[in-house]
Order: sequence, then C-alpha cells, then structure tokens
Amino acid sequence: MLFTLSLVAALLLALLLAKPIKNCPGAFYAVSAVLSLAFALFDFTNAPHFLSAWLLDPFRRGTLGTALFVVVMFTGALEKGSGLRQKLLPIRGFLSIIATILVLCHCVYFGKTYLVRLFTGGAIGGRLSGLQTWAMIFSILMILILLPLGIASFQKIRRRMGAQKWKKLQRWAYLFYGLIYVHIVLLLLPHALTGQAGYALSVAVYSIVFALYLYLRLRRSEKLSRPVKGGCSLAGAAIALAVTLFAVLGCVDAARENNAPLASAAGGEAVLHDGTFTGVGTGYGGPVEVSIVVENGVITEIILGDNVEDPPYLKDAVKLFDDVIEQQTYKVDSVTGATSSSVGLKSAIKKAMEAAAAEQ
Ligand code: HEM
Repeated sequence: MLFTLSLVAALLLALLLAKPIKNCPGAFYAVSAVLSLAFALFDFTNAPHFLSAWLLDPFRRGTLGTALFVVVMFTGALEKGSGLRQKLLPIRGFLSIIATILVLCHCVYFGKTYLVRLFTGGAIGGRLSGLQTWAMIFSILMILILLPLGIASFQKIRRRMGAQKWKKLQRWAYLFYGLIYVHIVLLLLPHALTGQAGYALSVAVYSIVFALYLYLRLRRSEKLSRPVKGGCSLAGAAIALAVTLFAVLGCVDAARENNAPLASAAGGEAVLHDGTFTGVGTGYGGPVEVSIVVENGVITEIILGDNVEDPPYLKDAVKLFDDVIEQQTYKVDSVTGATSSSVGLKSAIKKAMEAAAAEQ
C-alpha cells in the first residue's frame, strides 16, 4: 500500500511540478536533502501516527525514492511519441538526483542497524537472517552503482564526461533497477510468509511494476530481435507471477496456521501444563523469543526473550501480552503501527503454548 501511494505521489510531483523542477532544481535538492537527513537521523518516536505513516515512512522505508526511480525508469521505456514521455523526459535527470537523495534517507535509516549487524556479524544488534544478509550485500552494491549514476545526472558532470562515457555509465542503471527488485523481495517476502497480507500485496505490486517495466523497455529496444524480446518479457512476467503466487499462497497458508486452534497432545481442547515454556516467532527484524509461565493451567506471566526488534515498535507490541493473559489465547489483535513485531510475538506465544499443551 505504501509503495502504491508513493507511486501516485511521485507521478503527481513530477507532472505538476515539472516546470519549477526544471527552472530551479537546486531548491528541490535542498528540501529533499534536509528532509532526508532529518528523517534518517532524528528520533520521531513520539510523532503522531499519521505523520509517521504518511510522511516519515515513505522516506524511511525507501518507497518515495524508489517510486521516483520507477517514474525515471518508465520515462525511458515509453514509446517515443507518448505525451507522458515528452512531459517527463526534460526533467528526468533532475528526478534521478531527487530520487537518489530521498533513497539515501532510507539507506542511512536502516543502514544504522542492518549494516552494523552485517559488519559486526551480529555482535551488535543481533545476527541477520540469510535473506537479510543477501539483501544487505545487494544494498551495498546498489549504493556503489547509485552514487556515480546520481553524480553523473548533474548536467555539468554529464557535459564534462562526454556523451559516450555518460551513455556507457547509464547501462549500469539496468543492473541497479534489477537489484532494487531483488532487494525488496528478499526483505518483504519473509514478512508475507508470516501471514501478513500487507506485505504479500506489496510484493505483488512491486512484481507487477517491475515486470511491466521489463516488458516496455524490451519492446522499445531496437537491438533485440522480436523472439528475444518476447522470450525475455515472458521470463520476466513468469518470475513476477511466481514470486507473487509464492508470496500470496505462503501468506494465506501462514495466516491459516496463525489462526489454527491450538494443537493439544490429546487432540481435544488444549490443556496447558504448569511450568515455563518458550517459543520463537519471526518479527520485523528477525527471530523473537517469548516465554510463558503457566500456573494451574493458566498463563500468569509472559517474558520477552532474545530478539532483534526495533525498540520503538517493540515497546508498543509487547502491550499485547496483557490481552493474551486476559483472554488466555494468542489470537489477540496486533498493535497498530507495530504489526510485524506483534505477529512475531503472537507466533512465539503460540509455539510456547503448544509446548505447554504437549508437555506430558
Ligand atoms: C544501505 C542500503 C540499504 C539498506 C540498509 C536497506 C534496508 C532495507 C530494509 C531493512 C528494508 C525492509 C523494510 C521493511 O521490512 O519494511 C528495505 C526495504 C526496501 N528497500 Fe532498502 N535498503 C538499502 C538500500 C536501498 C536502495 C538503494 C533502495 C532503492 C533504490 C531501496 C529500496 C527499498 C524498498 C523500495 C524497500 C521496500 C519498502 C516497502 O515497500 O515496505 N533500499 N530496505
């Protein structure tokens, strides 16, 4: 959902502000840089929910910058005569620079924790999962491509480089676009597979947008023969469809699992045995451990264990512990604004309750 709204905002920004962007790009660079720095470095934990959802998140989660890159990508893939292409082409370079500045907000915001976890092997902030590790390795590669591309988008630098060198550098943009998609799927798919429909939908939208770009870009290419274009587009569409189906079906399956009644040793109503039992779920940052204390068949205490969750989200998510104790079930509502952490905590509690029910 966040990416779809960011895409609409990016297209409106490009179309409605085309003239001021062309006349005074420096002002847009400055505003983007100030906002990106502020949102990446300052703590807005107590910001009202609408502000974090509609202003902070598009910057911090990289969706606004990526949406602007998508506008830049599609401008290059549209047919020569198209009115939209003629409107956007003159400001394409400026939009690339603004997109680069906006995405750096995301890189710093998440880099502060994820790259530190990567480079310290988990000694600081906890170990990354295999998929997160690959996503971080690709994000470093993306930055190494993004910075020269962004710098070469400045007209002065472009003129100094000369057309041939500049065109050669631009070819790296295709690898960069491909890596964005891989980066996103590696990071969002695990959330979708914990039963979070929002993430499954995001993966589907990204897959459709990137497959459509591949099709349009190939269609415009004169170098490739028709069969090659057709084959590549088909392959791209097949990958997008496969990733989308995997995300959606995995999500449905996990949601069914999340809502399945508690399995009990005897197969009837689950009876919890006394003791302390631990379960591990998948939260926002990775594995999250929770222990439950059962006395006289009733959960009397819930203890948070090892985790790599973002503290501001976790602080909210643990509020669901009270509901679990009050209702004696893990099927309680997730805490708004901390969904991924809530889902992780609930699946850990479910596993702990299953262990308590299975106890002989
Ligand atoms: C050091 C560099 C980077 C780091 C540490 C990083 C980290 C992350 C993390 C942790 C997520 C998952 C967020 C979530 O679970 O909601 C994410 C998602 C994402 N990243 Fe990056 N990223 C980096 C570079 C980039 C770059 C260069 C781009 C694009 C040009 C990008 C685009 C995205 C997008 C679009 C998402 C999905 C956001 C959503 O729809 O929720 N990232 N990134």
